[in-house]
Amino acid sequence: MRLLVCGGAGFIGSNFVRVRLREHGDEVVVLDKLTYAGRRENLAGLDVAFVHAGIEDAAAVGGAIEGAEAVVNFAAETHVDRSIAEPDAFVTTHAFGTWVLLEAARAHGVRYLQVSTDEVYGSIESGSFTERSPLAPSSPYSATKAGADLLVSSYFHTYGLKTLICRGSNNYGPYQYPEKLIPLMVLNALHGDRLPVYGDGMQVRNWLYVEDFARAIGQVLAHGAPGEAYNVGGPDECPNIEVVQRILALCGADEALIEHVTDRPGHDRRYSLGSEKVRGLGWQARTRFADGLAETVRWYRENAAWWEPIRSGEYREYYQRQYGSQIKG
Ligand SMILES: NC(=O)c1ccc[n+]([C@@H]2O[C@H](COP(=O)([O-])OP(=O)(O)OC[C@H]3O[C@@H](n4cnc5c(N)ncnc54)[C@H](O)[C@@H]3O)[C@@H](O)[C@H]2O)c1
Repeated sequence: MRLLVCGGAGFIGSNFVRVRLREHGDEVVVLDKLTYAGRRENLAGLDVAFVHAGIEDAAAVGGAIEGAEAVVNFAAETHVDRSIAEPDAFVTTHAFGTWVLLEAARAHGVRYLQVSTDEVYGSIESGSFTERSPLAPSSPYSATKAGADLLVSSYFHTYGLKTLICRGSNNYGPYQYPEKLIPLMVLNALHGDRLPVYGDGMQVRNWLYVEDFARAIGQVLAHGAPGEAYNVGGPDECPNIEVVQRILALCGADEALIEHVTDRPGHDRRYSLGSEKVRGLGWQARTRFADGLAETVRWYRENAAWWEPIRSGEYREYYQRQYGSQIKG
């Protein structure tokens, strides 16, 4: 299959491309703006064509989509903390960028899959969200992602475009930018630095190994019903503080490194997705959290050449701004 993968130089996109080349022999064009989170290194050694452009660039998108049988859109600003400090790019990429891609897909009559998140449903104290649950996002990140989902659905209803939406729970695994919880904690633990935990650390997330999400997206692309959304939840949920304790144990570091810092404003307490619908397409998560987490720690340990340039660059300024005043020593 010939695919246009937007945002394919990021964490999930690059893992998706790797799975598609390895398991399906697809022909892939990656279009990516290479923001701080997107890196050519994430695609090193992979046989893909690369277009350096934003999804909001209609001319670049129009060229890249030629010959594609489907568009898979991962392109996004993905960090909730950054969406609170600087929401502009979230609106541009998620609203305007998604619209440009939908127009291109419509002009070429190709299937369109939007990669979305459990965060569009908001927080849930018990039980799980289904695809029929109302969208109730709480941050500029999740609100603009929810807006994109609604726009995608409107292109199915209004123009008959074959659209699909895949909403994943919290992903983890290799190639994730270290501003996110798991790689942040792994790298700090490996360095003997303090581990900043928001509030009481009892925010519960439903952890999904990135290759499991990549395969679910492939399954939805191949077998999903146009116009439908599919939730993809991980097999295990875990409060953040326990994630951090497990990482410390895997890294052989001391729990005394944990430092509780002021919670993020509007921080959702729990996300949970029911995945019956995507299981009906023949998908099932293969990786339990304990195994995936151990594999992830191993990957970061063995791939210092991947994260060293990040830790010494823009990320350091971000980290100082975010946690600097609250972290001792
Ligand atoms: N990380 C998670 O836990 C998670 C869970 C569920 C869904 N998602 C969704 O999956 C998608 C990918 O997430 P990720 O964690 O891989 O993110 P990421 O931040 O690692 O990667 C995002 C990629 O998009 C690119 N990008 C950003 N703006 C762009 C633009 N305007 N045009 C073209 N490219 C642009 C970046 O350069 C980067 O390569 C996002 O849509 C996100 O909402 C993420």
